[in-house]
Parts: sequence; structure tokens; C-alpha cells
Amino acid sequence: MNQHDTVRPIQWTPQGLRLLDQRVLPGEVRYVDCRSAADVAAAIRDMAVRGAPAIGIAAAYGVVLAARQAYAEDPARWRELIEPGLAALAASRPTAVNLFWALARMRDRLATAGADPVAALLDEARAIQEEDLAANLCMGEHGAALLGEPGAVLTHCNTGSLATAGYGTALGVIRSGYEAGKITHVYADETRPWLQGARLTAWELIQDAIPVTLIADAAAPLLMRRGQVRWVIVGADRIAANGDVANKIGTYGLAIAARAHGVKFMVVAPTSTIDWAIETGDEIPIESRLDDELLSMQGQRIAAEGAAAWNPVFDVTPAEYIDVIVTEKGVVQRPRRETLARLRE
Ligand code: MRU
Repeated sequence: MNQHDTVRPIQWTPQGLRLLDQRVLPGEVRYVDCRSAADVAAAIRDMAVRGAPAIGIAAAYGVVLAARQAYAEDPARWRELIEPGLAALAASRPTAVNLFWALARMRDRLATAGADPVAALLDEARAIQEEDLAANLCMGEHGAALLGEPGAVLTHCNTGSLATAGYGTALGVIRSGYEAGKITHVYADETRPWLQGARLTAWELIQDAIPVTLIADAAAPLLMRRGQVRWVIVGADRIAANGDVANKIGTYGLAIAARAHGVKFMVVAPTSTIDWAIETGDEIPIESRLDDELLSMQGQRIAAEGAAAWNPVFDVTPAEYIDVIVTEKGVVQRPRRETLARLRE
């Protein structure tokens, strides 16, 4: 950690999993303590923890809690008793593939665990968390190396320390680029309706002394037309084998606007975000959340009574609009099925 990297949202303690509660930031710094897999599943579902890699890491620790509870209940039947916990974690959110990737990895580990699985599973969850941080630091270097002349960038949602083990994906590239003097300023979309940009990205960058200016989501094309940003840098929740990218709703529109204005578009994600099992973005399940997230703000109704809402919280950007995907295993320019497949080797 250094002065531009101070936030760590996920901590394992002897009692269980401690999460920085992202629902109440920036007004309050509060923690949620999870003692069971059901607690972790609820924290993911209700967005106390969010962001694809962070969801995966939290779920991995959720498996440790499930095993601990199952083993305490009946050491002879823990493999059977753990299953409802795993099912609750898998049902918590549908789009970020890191959740299912982490659960599959924990399942592999529990298949080979001895009579007492808790220590082995805890080692695996810690490894997932440590590897994510290492991947982010690596992607920060890879991405910053692509930036060229110093200039401002635009980002969407929150892809930083809060969304990962630490440092961040797109925000990691922004951290590295800022430290290297290649990024002079960060514009952040407020990211309606949940305001990940206004509440979380702005908070995180201010904690870490990186200058940030918020814009309404709809202001992004004007910002580009005026030549005020050279890159759009975003994260991903799931990348299909052909390079299509699911990310926070609004990303697709940003990619189209970027292409129309000659602004480069970079996606930054660890390879745990690539779903090799699906061919195109059309197969990615898109989460819809409650209408109320759109119709109300902080418990206060803002929309006209009687109005309905449509609230898909992710969209899919076709690969053809993406200039580069940055992963910890390397950089893929003009991503396509063939070029992306090199990351699998
Ligand atoms: O609904 P959220 O806040 O979990 O959505 C998060 C995003 O869309 C992020 O951009 C994505 O997970 C990448 S985070 C490193």
C-alpha cells in the first residue's frame, strides 16, 4: 500500500468475514460481520460487498464459514451439510462470473480436503484474495504502459479497491497511470441508479489523493466531443470467449460514444472474469434489480407515483467497440475470439 492505495474492503478475522459496508459510504465507514455463508450471501445480494472480484473473494470466505458451521454440527457429515451454504452463495447475484469461478475453485479444494476441511479452505480463500491483489498490481502496470501522452480519463462504476482485494482493475490502471504522470485527471460517471461512481469511486480516489471530477452519466459524450478525455477505462463482470464484455449499465453507451469521438476504450479485468464456456455476450445473464433502486433515492421516492421502472444493472459491450482488454496474463488489442484465446494458453 502507498498514499495512492489505502483501502482494503475484505478482512478475515478469527470470528469470520468483515466487510466494509458499501451501502453507507461515503457518509459512514461501517463494517458488516458475517458469521455464516448465509450472512455472506445476504451481503452480496444486498450489495454490502460488490464488484466482480470482491464478490468472488467474499464468496470464497463464505465457503469457509459454511464448512466451519457444517463441521461443528457433525464432523462425519460436513460434505453434505455444506451444500445449502454453497447454494445460497451461488444464488446471490447472477452476472459476475468471478462468483462462480471462486465457488468452483473452492469446490475443487474441498474435494481433496481431509477430515477437517476448514484450514485447507481458508488457505484457498486467502490465496484467491492474494492472487487478485497481485493481478491488479500487474494489470495496473500493463494498462498504464498503453496510455501514451499525459491526459485525462473517464471511468464508470467503481472498479477500485472497494470492488476487489485492493488496488482495483480499471481504477488500478488509473492509480498506476496517475503515479507515472500519464493521467492528469479522472472524470467519474456518477453511475445511476446505485451511484457507485458518486459514492464509491469519488470517495476512494479522494482517500488516495487522486483528483476526481464527477459527471452525470449523460454528460460523457459531450466530454468526449470536447476532447477532454483520451481514454475510457472500465472493468468487467463477465467477458465472453469472443471478447464481448458485460459491465455496469451504461458501459455500452460509453463505448459507442468513445468510438464516435476517437476516444480509446480499455477494459481491465483479471482472467477470472473471462467465461470461456460462453461464446458471446448474448448468453450472459443480466441482473435486474428492484424498481425501487430507480424510483427512489435513499429511501425517498423521486419518481412520479404510478411510474413503472426497468432496471437492468449490467449491459454488454460488443468486442468490436473495445480497443484493448488488459488482464494479468497480458494485453489483448482489438479483442476477438482468436486473440483472446491466447490468454488461455
Ligand atoms: O453492481 P456492481 O456494483 O457489483 O457492479 C460492479 C461493476 O459493474 C464493475 O464495473 C465490475 O464489477 C468490475 S469491478 C473491478
